[in-house]
Amino acid sequence: MAFRKDFLWGGATAANQCEGGYNEGGRGLANVDLAPTGPDRFPLITGVKKMFNFDEENFYPAQEAIDMYHRYKEDIALFGEMGFKTYRLSIAWSRIFPMGDETEPNEEGLKFYEDLFKECHKYGIEPLVTITHFDCPMHLVEEYGAWRSRKLVGFYENLCRVIFNRYKGLVKYWLTFNEINMILHLPFMGAGLLIEDKETALKDKYQAIHHELVASALATKIAHEIDPDNKVGCMLAAGNTYPYTCNPDDVWKSIQIDREGYFFIDVQARGYYPRYALKQMEREGTMPIMEDGDQELLKDNTVDFISFSYYSSRCTSADPDMNKQTEGNVFATLKNPYLKASEWGWQIDPLGLRITLNSIYDRYQKPLFIVENGLGAKDELIDNTVEDDYRIDYLRQHIQAMSDAIEIDGVELWGYTTWGCIDLVSASTGEMSKRYGFIYVDRDDQGNGTNKRYKKKSFDWYKKVIASNGEDLD
Ligand code: BG6
Repeated sequence: MAFRKDFLWGGATAANQCEGGYNEGGRGLANVDLAPTGPDRFPLITGVKKMFNFDEENFYPAQEAIDMYHRYKEDIALFGEMGFKTYRLSIAWSRIFPMGDETEPNEEGLKFYEDLFKECHKYGIEPLVTITHFDCPMHLVEEYGAWRSRKLVGFYENLCRVIFNRYKGLVKYWLTFNEINMILHLPFMGAGLLIEDKETALKDKYQAIHHELVASALATKIAHEIDPDNKVGCMLAAGNTYPYTCNPDDVWKSIQIDREGYFFIDVQARGYYPRYALKQMEREGTMPIMEDGDQELLKDNTVDFISFSYYSSRCTSADPDMNKQTEGNVFATLKNPYLKASEWGWQIDPLGLRITLNSIYDRYQKPLFIVENGLGAKDELIDNTVEDDYRIDYLRQHIQAMSDAIEIDGVELWGYTTWGCIDLVSASTGEMSKRYGFIYVDRDDQGNGTNKRYKKKSFDWYKKVIASNGEDLD
Protein backbone atom coordinates (compact mmCIF):
# COMPACT_ATOMS: atom_id res chain seq x y z
CA MET A 1 0.00 0.00 0.00
CA ALA A 2 1.50 3.34 -1.10
CA PHE A 3 -0.30 5.70 1.24
CA ARG A 4 0.47 5.71 4.96
CA LYS A 5 -2.34 4.63 7.27
CA ASP A 6 -2.86 8.15 8.57
CA PHE A 7 -2.64 9.80 5.13
CA LEU A 8 -4.61 13.05 5.23
CA TRP A 9 -7.10 12.99 2.35
CA GLY A 10 -9.29 16.01 1.96
CA GLY A 11 -10.08 19.22 0.17
CA ALA A 12 -9.10 22.88 0.29
CA THR A 13 -10.73 26.30 0.16
CA ALA A 14 -9.82 29.90 0.99
CA ALA A 15 -11.90 32.33 3.05
CA ASN A 16 -12.29 35.05 0.44
CA GLN A 17 -13.30 32.58 -2.26
CA CYS A 18 -16.07 30.86 -0.32
CA GLU A 19 -17.17 32.62 2.86
CA GLY A 20 -18.86 35.80 1.67
CA GLY A 21 -20.34 37.73 4.61
CA TYR A 22 -17.68 40.32 3.87
CA ASN A 23 -19.21 42.92 6.18
CA GLU A 24 -20.78 40.62 8.77
CA GLY A 25 -19.67 39.66 12.26
CA GLY A 26 -17.53 42.77 12.60
CA ARG A 27 -15.28 41.82 9.68
CA GLY A 28 -13.15 44.58 8.19
CA LEU A 29 -12.51 45.20 4.49
CA ALA A 30 -9.65 43.27 2.88
CA ASN A 31 -7.67 43.62 -0.36
CA VAL A 32 -9.27 40.46 -1.74
CA ASP A 33 -12.80 41.89 -1.37
CA LEU A 34 -12.00 44.57 -3.93
CA ALA A 35 -11.20 42.26 -6.84
CA PRO A 36 -14.05 42.52 -9.37
CA THR A 37 -14.83 40.17 -12.23
CA GLY A 38 -14.12 41.52 -15.71
CA PRO A 39 -11.35 43.62 -17.22
CA ASP A 40 -10.38 45.49 -14.04
CA ARG A 41 -9.50 42.32 -12.16
CA PHE A 42 -6.06 41.64 -13.58
CA PRO A 43 -4.79 45.25 -13.26
CA LEU A 44 -6.06 45.25 -9.67
CA ILE A 45 -4.59 41.93 -8.53
CA THR A 46 -1.25 42.73 -10.17
CA GLY A 47 -1.14 46.04 -8.28
CA VAL A 48 -0.99 48.32 -11.31
CA LYS A 49 -4.46 49.79 -10.81
CA LYS A 50 -5.44 51.34 -7.50
CA MET A 51 -9.06 50.62 -6.59
CA PHE A 52 -9.58 51.02 -2.86
CA ASN A 53 -13.37 51.21 -2.91
CA PHE A 54 -16.25 49.34 -4.48
CA ASP A 55 -17.84 51.05 -7.46
CA GLU A 56 -21.22 50.73 -9.13
CA GLU A 57 -20.00 49.40 -12.47
CA ASN A 58 -18.24 46.34 -11.16
CA PHE A 59 -19.39 43.08 -9.58
CA TYR A 60 -17.37 41.85 -6.59
CA PRO A 61 -17.77 38.08 -6.22
CA ALA A 62 -16.05 37.81 -2.83
CA GLN A 63 -18.76 39.84 -1.13
CA GLU A 64 -21.11 36.88 -1.04
CA ALA A 65 -18.96 34.15 -2.62
CA ILE A 66 -20.77 30.82 -2.02
CA ASP A 67 -22.13 32.01 1.33
CA MET A 68 -20.16 29.49 3.34
CA TYR A 69 -20.20 31.97 6.22
CA HIS A 70 -23.79 30.89 6.77
CA ARG A 71 -23.70 27.40 5.29
CA TYR A 72 -20.52 25.86 6.67
CA LYS A 73 -22.35 23.21 8.71
CA GLU A 74 -24.03 21.81 5.63
CA ASP A 75 -20.72 21.91 3.71
CA ILE A 76 -18.68 20.25 6.42
CA ALA A 77 -21.34 17.54 6.73
CA LEU A 78 -20.82 16.83 3.02
CA PHE A 79 -17.04 16.71 3.50
CA GLY A 80 -17.65 14.32 6.37
CA GLU A 81 -19.83 12.16 4.14
CA MET A 82 -16.96 11.90 1.64
CA GLY A 83 -14.76 10.72 4.51
CA PHE A 84 -12.39 13.71 4.57
CA LYS A 85 -9.57 13.27 7.06
CA THR A 86 -8.62 16.92 6.74
CA TYR A 87 -10.12 20.17 5.52
CA ARG A 88 -7.80 22.97 4.48
CA LEU A 89 -9.32 26.40 4.96
CA SER A 90 -8.02 29.87 5.62
CA ILE A 91 -8.76 32.40 8.30
CA ALA A 92 -9.84 35.84 7.11
CA TRP A 93 -7.42 38.11 8.94
CA SER A 94 -9.96 40.96 8.95
CA ARG A 95 -12.52 38.80 10.78
CA ILE A 96 -10.11 38.49 13.71
CA PHE A 97 -8.53 41.95 13.45
CA PRO A 98 -10.86 44.08 11.30
CA MET A 99 -8.28 46.85 10.87
CA GLY A 100 -5.24 44.65 11.39
CA ASP A 101 -3.47 46.88 13.92
CA GLU A 102 -5.80 46.60 16.93
CA THR A 103 -4.46 45.11 20.13
CA GLU A 104 -7.69 43.26 20.95
CA PRO A 105 -9.23 40.75 18.53
CA ASN A 106 -12.85 40.64 17.38
CA GLU A 107 -14.55 37.96 19.47
CA GLU A 108 -17.25 37.30 16.89
CA GLY A 109 -14.64 36.41 14.28
CA LEU A 110 -12.76 34.16 16.69
CA LYS A 111 -15.94 32.39 17.69
CA PHE A 112 -16.92 31.80 14.05
CA TYR A 113 -13.76 29.78 13.39
CA GLU A 114 -13.90 28.04 16.75
CA ASP A 115 -17.39 26.75 15.90
CA LEU A 116 -16.23 25.79 12.42
CA PHE A 117 -13.26 23.79 13.76
CA LYS A 118 -15.51 22.04 16.28
CA GLU A 119 -17.86 21.17 13.46
CA CYS A 120 -14.93 19.57 11.58
CA HIS A 121 -13.96 17.48 14.61
CA LYS A 122 -17.53 16.15 14.86
CA TYR A 123 -16.75 14.26 11.63
CA GLY A 124 -13.19 13.34 12.56
CA ILE A 125 -11.84 16.01 10.19
CA GLU A 126 -8.53 17.59 11.15
CA PRO A 127 -8.44 21.27 10.15
CA LEU A 128 -5.41 22.45 8.19
CA VAL A 129 -5.36 26.21 8.51
CA THR A 130 -3.77 28.74 6.17
CA ILE A 131 -3.12 31.82 8.27
CA THR A 132 -3.17 34.15 5.26
CA HIS A 133 -4.54 33.08 1.91
CA PHE A 134 -3.92 36.25 -0.11
CA ASP A 135 -5.76 38.48 2.33
CA CYS A 136 -4.63 41.61 4.08
CA PRO A 137 -6.87 44.10 5.92
CA MET A 138 -7.32 47.21 3.76
CA HIS A 139 -6.46 49.46 6.68
CA LEU A 140 -2.97 47.92 6.68
CA VAL A 141 -2.72 48.54 2.95
CA GLU A 142 -3.78 52.18 3.18
CA GLU A 143 -2.04 53.12 6.40
CA TYR A 144 1.24 51.20 6.12
CA GLY A 145 1.63 50.12 2.48
CA ALA A 146 0.94 46.50 3.50
CA TRP A 147 3.91 44.10 3.67
CA ARG A 148 6.34 46.75 2.47
CA SER A 149 6.24 47.96 6.08
CA ARG A 150 8.11 46.11 8.83
CA LYS A 151 5.17 46.92 11.10
CA LEU A 152 3.21 44.14 9.38
CA VAL A 153 5.47 41.57 11.04
CA GLY A 154 4.21 42.71 14.44
CA PHE A 155 0.56 42.76 13.37
CA TYR A 156 0.87 39.28 11.91
CA GLU A 157 2.57 38.13 15.11
CA ASN A 158 -0.42 39.38 17.12
CA LEU A 159 -2.76 37.47 14.84
CA CYS A 160 -0.72 34.31 15.25
CA ARG A 161 -0.51 34.54 19.04
CA VAL A 162 -4.25 35.01 19.27
CA ILE A 163 -5.20 32.14 16.99
CA PHE A 164 -2.55 29.68 18.26
CA ASN A 165 -3.76 30.24 21.83
CA ARG A 166 -7.44 30.23 21.05
CA TYR A 167 -7.40 27.16 18.80
CA LYS A 168 -4.90 25.10 20.80
CA GLY A 169 -6.19 21.53 20.78
CA LEU A 170 -8.52 22.26 17.85
CA VAL A 171 -5.93 22.94 15.14
CA LYS A 172 -2.44 21.52 14.83
CA TYR A 173 -1.59 21.89 11.14
CA TRP A 174 -0.81 25.44 10.02
CA LEU A 175 0.43 27.08 6.83
CA THR A 176 1.90 30.56 7.19
CA PHE A 177 1.33 32.12 3.72
CA ASN A 178 -0.56 30.66 0.78
CA GLU A 179 1.57 30.46 -2.38
CA ILE A 180 4.14 32.82 -0.91
CA ASN A 181 5.84 33.18 -4.32
CA MET A 182 2.64 34.69 -5.76
CA ILE A 183 3.76 38.07 -4.39
CA LEU A 184 6.12 38.24 -7.39
CA HIS A 185 3.28 37.72 -9.87
CA LEU A 186 0.12 39.10 -8.22
CA PRO A 187 1.50 41.58 -5.68
CA PHE A 188 -1.77 43.25 -4.71
CA MET A 189 -3.76 40.04 -4.33
CA GLY A 190 -0.83 38.18 -2.78
CA ALA A 191 0.31 40.84 -0.33
CA GLY A 192 -1.64 44.10 -0.70
CA LEU A 193 1.26 45.70 -2.63
CA LEU A 194 0.70 48.45 -5.15
CA ILE A 195 3.21 48.87 -7.94
CA GLU A 196 3.55 52.62 -7.76
CA ASP A 197 6.96 52.94 -9.30
CA LYS A 198 8.09 50.39 -11.86
CA GLU A 199 11.74 51.23 -11.19
CA THR A 200 11.57 50.19 -7.55
CA ALA A 201 8.90 47.50 -7.92
CA LEU A 202 11.25 44.56 -7.54
CA LYS A 203 13.09 46.08 -4.62
CA ASP A 204 9.77 46.80 -2.89
CA LYS A 205 8.64 43.25 -3.53
CA TYR A 206 11.80 41.78 -2.01
CA GLN A 207 11.47 44.03 1.02
CA ALA A 208 7.89 42.80 1.47
CA ILE A 209 9.06 39.23 0.90
CA HIS A 210 11.70 39.57 3.60
CA HIS A 211 9.03 40.75 6.01
CA GLU A 212 6.83 37.77 5.14
CA LEU A 213 9.74 35.36 5.57
CA VAL A 214 10.54 36.83 8.99
CA ALA A 215 6.85 36.72 9.92
CA SER A 216 6.67 33.10 8.80
CA ALA A 217 9.66 32.11 10.95
CA LEU A 218 8.20 34.00 13.89
CA ALA A 219 4.88 32.21 13.45
CA THR A 220 6.69 28.87 13.40
CA LYS A 221 8.53 29.74 16.60
CA ILE A 222 5.40 30.89 18.43
CA ALA A 223 3.34 27.92 17.20
CA HIS A 224 5.93 25.53 18.65
CA GLU A 225 6.16 27.44 21.93
CA ILE A 226 2.40 27.52 22.42
CA ASP A 227 1.89 23.88 21.53
CA PRO A 228 4.79 21.53 20.76
CA ASP A 229 2.30 19.37 18.83
CA ASN A 230 1.77 22.12 16.24
CA LYS A 231 3.12 21.40 12.77
CA VAL A 232 3.87 24.42 10.62
CA GLY A 233 4.37 24.38 6.88
CA CYS A 234 5.28 26.76 4.10
CA MET A 235 3.32 26.83 0.83
CA LEU A 236 4.61 27.23 -2.72
CA ALA A 237 2.83 27.59 -6.05
CA ALA A 238 4.83 24.75 -7.57
CA GLY A 239 5.22 22.94 -10.88
CA ASN A 240 8.63 22.32 -12.41
CA THR A 241 9.73 24.33 -15.42
CA TYR A 242 10.83 22.25 -18.39
CA PRO A 243 13.30 23.54 -20.99
CA TYR A 244 11.57 23.77 -24.37
CA THR A 245 14.55 22.01 -26.00
CA CYS A 246 17.78 20.40 -24.84
CA ASN A 247 19.65 23.54 -25.84
CA PRO A 248 21.70 24.33 -22.69
CA ASP A 249 20.43 27.93 -22.86
CA ASP A 250 16.86 26.65 -22.45
CA VAL A 251 17.93 24.35 -19.62
CA TRP A 252 19.67 27.19 -17.82
CA LYS A 253 16.61 29.41 -18.24
CA SER A 254 14.37 26.74 -16.72
CA ILE A 255 16.68 26.46 -13.70
CA GLN A 256 16.54 30.21 -13.21
CA ILE A 257 12.76 30.27 -13.36
CA ASP A 258 12.43 27.46 -10.82
CA ARG A 259 14.79 29.28 -8.50
CA GLU A 260 12.41 32.25 -8.39
CA GLY A 261 10.01 29.99 -6.50
CA TYR A 262 12.49 27.77 -4.68
CA PHE A 263 14.06 30.88 -3.18
CA PHE A 264 11.17 31.18 -0.71
CA ILE A 265 11.30 27.56 0.37
CA ASP A 266 15.09 27.63 0.54
CA VAL A 267 14.71 30.26 3.26
CA GLN A 268 11.72 28.69 5.02
CA ALA A 269 13.00 25.10 4.96
CA ARG A 270 16.79 25.59 5.20
CA GLY A 271 16.81 28.77 7.23
CA TYR A 272 18.95 31.13 5.18
CA TYR A 273 19.05 33.12 1.95
CA PRO A 274 20.65 30.97 -0.75
CA ARG A 275 23.86 32.31 -2.31
CA TYR A 276 22.37 32.55 -5.81
CA ALA A 277 19.69 34.90 -4.43
CA LEU A 278 22.15 37.05 -2.50
CA LYS A 279 24.28 37.43 -5.61
CA GLN A 280 21.27 38.34 -7.70
CA MET A 281 19.99 40.87 -5.15
CA GLU A 282 23.41 42.52 -5.01
CA ARG A 283 23.52 42.70 -8.80
CA GLU A 284 20.01 44.05 -9.17
CA GLY A 285 20.06 46.33 -6.14
CA THR A 286 17.10 44.56 -4.55
CA MET A 287 18.72 43.47 -1.28
CA PRO A 288 16.13 44.01 1.47
CA ILE A 289 16.88 45.81 4.70
CA MET A 290 17.29 43.20 7.43
CA GLU A 291 17.23 43.84 11.16
CA ASP A 292 19.55 42.40 13.78
CA GLY A 293 18.31 39.00 14.78
CA ASP A 294 16.48 38.26 11.52
CA GLN A 295 19.05 35.77 10.31
CA GLU A 296 19.05 33.83 13.61
CA LEU A 297 15.27 33.80 13.62
CA LEU A 298 15.18 32.34 10.10
CA LYS A 299 17.88 29.81 10.95
CA ASP A 300 16.28 28.61 14.18
CA ASN A 301 12.70 28.33 12.97
CA THR A 302 12.46 26.32 9.80
CA VAL A 303 9.19 24.68 8.84
CA ASP A 304 8.13 21.16 9.82
CA PHE A 305 6.82 20.29 6.37
CA ILE A 306 6.57 21.71 2.87
CA SER A 307 3.25 22.14 1.19
CA PHE A 308 2.52 23.22 -2.34
CA SER A 309 -0.11 23.65 -5.01
CA TYR A 310 0.30 21.81 -8.26
CA TYR A 311 -1.87 22.36 -11.31
CA SER A 312 0.61 22.11 -14.13
CA SER A 313 4.22 22.02 -15.17
CA ARG A 314 5.66 24.99 -17.08
CA CYS A 315 7.82 25.25 -20.13
CA THR A 316 10.35 27.88 -21.12
CA SER A 317 12.76 28.87 -23.85
CA ALA A 318 15.75 31.19 -23.88
CA ASP A 319 14.69 32.49 -27.27
CA PRO A 320 13.23 35.98 -26.75
CA ASP A 321 10.91 35.61 -29.74
CA MET A 322 9.32 32.47 -28.37
CA ASN A 323 8.97 34.04 -24.96
CA LYS A 324 6.93 36.90 -26.36
CA GLN A 325 4.03 34.43 -26.49
CA THR A 326 3.97 34.15 -22.72
CA GLU A 327 3.96 37.83 -21.79
CA GLY A 328 1.10 38.88 -19.53
CA ASN A 329 0.47 35.44 -18.02
CA VAL A 330 0.57 34.97 -14.27
CA PHE A 331 3.12 32.23 -14.75
CA ALA A 332 4.93 32.52 -18.05
CA THR A 333 4.70 29.17 -19.80
CA LEU A 334 5.03 28.09 -23.39
CA LYS A 335 2.64 25.60 -24.83
CA ASN A 336 4.11 22.16 -24.29
CA PRO A 337 3.39 20.16 -27.46
CA TYR A 338 3.18 16.91 -25.47
CA LEU A 339 0.39 18.05 -23.18
CA LYS A 340 -3.34 18.70 -23.41
CA ALA A 341 -4.81 21.69 -21.63
CA SER A 342 -7.93 22.57 -19.63
CA GLU A 343 -10.61 24.90 -20.97
CA TRP A 344 -8.65 27.73 -19.34
CA GLY A 345 -5.42 26.68 -21.04
CA TRP A 346 -3.81 25.12 -17.94
CA GLN A 347 -1.71 22.23 -19.22
CA ILE A 348 -2.45 18.82 -17.77
CA ASP A 349 0.62 16.89 -16.67
CA PRO A 350 0.22 14.16 -14.03
CA LEU A 351 3.81 12.95 -14.44
CA GLY A 352 4.80 16.56 -13.78
CA LEU A 353 3.37 16.10 -10.29
CA ARG A 354 5.67 13.13 -9.68
CA ILE A 355 8.58 15.16 -11.06
CA THR A 356 7.71 18.10 -8.80
CA LEU A 357 7.33 15.87 -5.73
CA ASN A 358 10.72 14.34 -6.39
CA SER A 359 12.44 17.66 -7.04
CA ILE A 360 11.14 19.24 -3.85
CA TYR A 361 11.82 16.17 -1.73
CA ASP A 362 15.35 15.78 -3.09
CA ARG A 363 16.05 19.43 -2.40
CA TYR A 364 14.75 19.64 1.19
CA GLN A 365 14.28 16.12 2.57
CA LYS A 366 11.28 17.21 4.60
CA PRO A 367 7.75 15.76 4.59
CA LEU A 368 5.56 17.09 1.81
CA PHE A 369 1.86 17.93 1.64
CA ILE A 370 0.00 18.62 -1.61
CA VAL A 371 -2.54 21.22 -0.54
CA GLU A 372 -3.98 22.14 -3.94
CA ASN A 373 -4.54 20.21 -7.14
CA GLY A 374 -7.53 19.90 -9.42
CA LEU A 375 -9.23 20.70 -12.67
CA GLY A 376 -11.13 23.93 -13.23
CA ALA A 377 -13.84 23.09 -15.76
CA LYS A 378 -17.28 24.15 -16.97
CA ASP A 379 -19.88 21.84 -15.43
CA GLU A 380 -23.43 21.26 -16.48
CA LEU A 381 -26.02 20.45 -13.86
CA ILE A 382 -28.44 17.90 -15.29
CA ASP A 383 -30.98 16.04 -13.14
CA ASN A 384 -29.44 17.49 -9.99
CA THR A 385 -25.95 16.19 -10.67
CA VAL A 386 -22.89 16.66 -12.88
CA GLU A 387 -21.34 13.80 -14.83
CA ASP A 388 -17.80 15.07 -14.34
CA ASP A 389 -15.80 12.12 -15.67
CA TYR A 390 -13.17 14.59 -16.94
CA ARG A 391 -12.51 15.68 -13.34
CA ILE A 392 -12.37 12.07 -12.12
CA ASP A 393 -9.83 11.31 -14.87
CA TYR A 394 -7.67 14.27 -13.96
CA LEU A 395 -7.67 13.41 -10.26
CA ARG A 396 -7.16 9.69 -10.85
CA GLN A 397 -4.03 10.32 -12.89
CA HIS A 398 -2.62 12.76 -10.36
CA ILE A 399 -3.30 10.41 -7.44
CA GLN A 400 -1.58 7.64 -9.38
CA ALA A 401 1.43 9.92 -9.85
CA MET A 402 1.50 10.60 -6.09
CA SER A 403 1.28 6.92 -5.40
CA ASP A 404 4.25 6.27 -7.71
CA ALA A 405 6.26 9.03 -6.07
CA ILE A 406 5.65 7.42 -2.68
CA GLU A 407 5.92 3.75 -3.56
CA ILE A 408 8.58 3.77 -6.27
CA ASP A 409 10.58 6.90 -5.42
CA GLY A 410 10.25 6.93 -1.63
CA VAL A 411 8.91 10.47 -1.32
CA GLU A 412 7.42 11.23 2.10
CA LEU A 413 3.93 12.63 1.63
CA TRP A 414 1.59 13.48 4.49
CA GLY A 415 -1.57 14.36 2.64
CA TYR A 416 -3.52 15.60 -0.32
CA THR A 417 -6.23 18.22 -0.38
CA THR A 418 -7.85 18.85 -3.75
CA TRP A 419 -8.52 22.48 -4.59
CA GLY A 420 -12.03 23.86 -4.37
CA CYS A 421 -13.57 20.66 -3.03
CA ILE A 422 -16.78 22.65 -3.24
CA ASP A 423 -17.22 25.05 -6.21
CA LEU A 424 -15.99 28.51 -5.31
CA VAL A 425 -14.91 31.82 -6.85
CA SER A 426 -11.84 31.59 -9.08
CA ALA A 427 -8.87 33.56 -7.77
CA SER A 428 -7.46 34.53 -11.14
CA THR A 429 -10.68 35.34 -13.01
CA GLY A 430 -13.36 35.83 -10.34
CA GLU A 431 -15.61 33.43 -12.24
CA MET A 432 -17.86 30.82 -10.66
CA SER A 433 -17.97 28.91 -13.92
CA LYS A 434 -14.38 27.72 -13.41
CA ARG A 435 -15.45 24.89 -11.14
CA TYR A 436 -13.21 22.48 -9.23
CA GLY A 437 -15.58 20.89 -6.75
CA PHE A 438 -17.05 17.52 -5.87
CA ILE A 439 -20.03 19.63 -4.85
CA TYR A 440 -21.80 21.86 -7.35
CA VAL A 441 -23.00 25.26 -6.14
CA ASP A 442 -25.90 26.91 -7.94
CA ARG A 443 -24.42 30.31 -8.61
CA ASP A 444 -23.26 31.99 -11.80
CA ASP A 445 -20.58 34.52 -12.75
CA GLN A 446 -22.90 37.47 -12.04
CA GLY A 447 -23.88 36.16 -8.61
CA ASN A 448 -27.30 34.79 -9.63
CA GLY A 449 -28.50 31.49 -8.21
CA THR A 450 -29.81 29.82 -5.08
CA ASN A 451 -26.42 28.71 -3.68
CA LYS A 452 -27.93 25.27 -3.32
CA ARG A 453 -25.41 22.41 -3.18
CA TYR A 454 -25.54 19.27 -5.38
CA LYS A 455 -23.28 16.21 -5.35
CA LYS A 456 -21.40 15.58 -8.60
CA LYS A 457 -20.41 12.12 -9.84
CA SER A 458 -16.87 12.77 -8.50
CA PHE A 459 -18.34 13.02 -4.97
CA ASP A 460 -18.92 9.27 -4.69
CA TRP A 461 -15.72 8.51 -6.58
CA TYR A 462 -13.55 10.49 -4.13
CA LYS A 463 -15.43 8.92 -1.20
CA LYS A 464 -14.36 5.51 -2.52
CA VAL A 465 -10.78 6.65 -3.05
CA ILE A 466 -10.57 7.82 0.56
CA ALA A 467 -12.29 4.71 1.94
CA SER A 468 -9.76 2.51 0.14
CA ASN A 469 -6.85 4.78 1.17
CA GLY A 470 -6.00 5.46 -2.46
CA GLU A 471 -6.11 1.82 -3.61
CA ASP A 472 -9.37 1.98 -5.54
CA LEU A 473 -9.07 4.64 -8.23
CA ASP A 474 -11.56 3.14 -10.73
C1 BG6 B 1 -4.05 28.90 -6.41
C2 BG6 B 1 -4.66 29.64 -5.27
O1 BG6 B 1 -3.27 29.82 -7.11
O2 BG6 B 1 -4.85 28.37 -7.41
C3 BG6 B 1 -6.16 29.52 -5.16
O3 BG6 B 1 -4.04 29.34 -4.05
C4 BG6 B 1 -6.76 29.47 -6.53
O4 BG6 B 1 -6.62 30.58 -4.37
C5 BG6 B 1 -6.23 28.23 -7.25
O5 BG6 B 1 -8.15 29.51 -6.54
C6 BG6 B 1 -6.85 27.98 -8.61
O6 BG6 B 1 -6.75 29.11 -9.42
P1 BG6 B 1 -8.03 29.75 -10.10
O7 BG6 B 1 -7.52 30.99 -10.70
O8 BG6 B 1 -8.50 28.75 -11.08
O9 BG6 B 1 -9.00 29.99 -9.01
